[in-house]
Amino acid sequence: MRIVDVPLGSRSYKIQIGPGLLANLGKECAHLSLGTRCAIISDTNVARRYAKTARGSLNQAGFASTLITVLAGETAKSLKSVQACYDQLAAHRLERRSFIVALGGGVVGDLAGFVAATYLRGIPFVQVPTTLLAHVDSSVGGKVGVNLKAGKNLVGAFHQPRLVLCDLDTLKTLPEREYRAGLAEVIKYGIIYDLALFEKIERDLPKLLRRDADTLTDIVARCCEIKADVVGQDETESGLRAILNFGHTIGHALEAISRYGKYLHGEAISIGQVAAARISAQSYGLPASDAERIAKLFQGAGLPTAVKLKDTDRRKLFAAMKLDKKVSDGEIKFVLARKIGQVEFGQSVPQKILEQTLNSLSA
Ligand SMILES: NC(=O)c1ccc[n+]([C@@H]2O[C@H](COP(=O)([O-])OP(=O)(O)OC[C@H]3O[C@@H](n4cnc5c(N)ncnc54)[C@H](O)[C@@H]3O)[C@@H](O)[C@H]2O)c1
Ligand SMILES: [Zn+2]
Repeated sequence: MRIVDVPLGSRSYKIQIGPGLLANLGKECAHLSLGTRCAIISDTNVARRYAKTARGSLNQAGFASTLITVLAGETAKSLKSVQACYDQLAAHRLERRSFIVALGGGVVGDLAGFVAATYLRGIPFVQVPTTLLAHVDSSVGGKVGVNLKAGKNLVGAFHQPRLVLCDLDTLKTLPEREYRAGLAEVIKYGIIYDLALFEKIERDLPKLLRRDADTLTDIVARCCEIKADVVGQDETESGLRAILNFGHTIGHALEAISRYGKYLHGEAISIGQVAAARISAQSYGLPASDAERIAKLFQGAGLPTAVKLKDTDRRKLFAAMKLDKKVSDGEIKFVLARKIGQVEFGQSVPQKILEQTLNSLSA
């Protein structure tokens, strides 16, 4: 098992990474000085596989748990689900020291975290992520929230978990497409922060694709270290944390114009990162060979790196990029790479280079 600290003063917490951790959930929660009552929030896919072990472990450690299950899928990240969760928390008489366990992927983590941030003006919560994306990204850092009709993640809060338990065994049942989508975030950490990680992913890709336990332990732990390091320096995204959005400006816009139906998030940001790498090569000094090396790694991971855009799509894509939360003063800002392992946020890109890059993506 590996442990990564997230250094946030009195709100610091640990991320535990390894196989078989779910069975220790109760014992680990017992170290956190929490109340006796708790609610597990999960989704239909995850609850039927893992809720029994989670509840058994909590009950054995003396906690009185209740299970709240939402329908699997992004639509669960809604104010309607939040309301349904509040009602069930009240019915189970959760009080200020009671806690919530988020058992699932990023959808459940964001929803359960938001419920925890707001119920009784905030109660503690523990993250038990079950997707690769949630292991390396959404469960760490305290961003929680839900979607509105007008857009994704428009309502939310910063609420740090008290503990994150990444049980790598849960990844065994994750559908292949979801797993590969998670790899897009894993590769991102190499590009933005750590050439050695990028090289390890290149070298160990076959083992990573086989979900080899030792390889996963090392790589998930390194990604969590990087996220913890970035969040520790800039919890509320006033600066540095923006580097985590490498490839996300174009990625989010692609998700939005395809109405969140065509691409998984990881697939959209795979294309977005390849685009950001090419833009970096055109205007920011990244060697062209590195941009292609980046594209090759995404391809090797079975992720899309090209997209055919008609003129109308391209217009919609630009409009969607301008709506992204990261836009300031009407100008689209990018995270660009100087070399693999080193990026900077807040970069402007000439329109002509943007257009050339979008053209190159249809190849
Ligand atoms: N808070 C943050 O910092 C942050 C960061 C990145 C993404 N997110 C959010 O995360 C969400 C995406 O998360 P996701 O990719 O984990 O999607 P998800 O939670 O929808 O999970 C993907 C699918 O896999 C299923 N699943 C989950 N774990 C499983 C398992 N172990 N075995 C079998 N099936 C399993 C789920 O039921 C779902 O159908 C988005 O809403 C995104 O906005 C948040
Ligand atoms: Zn992302």
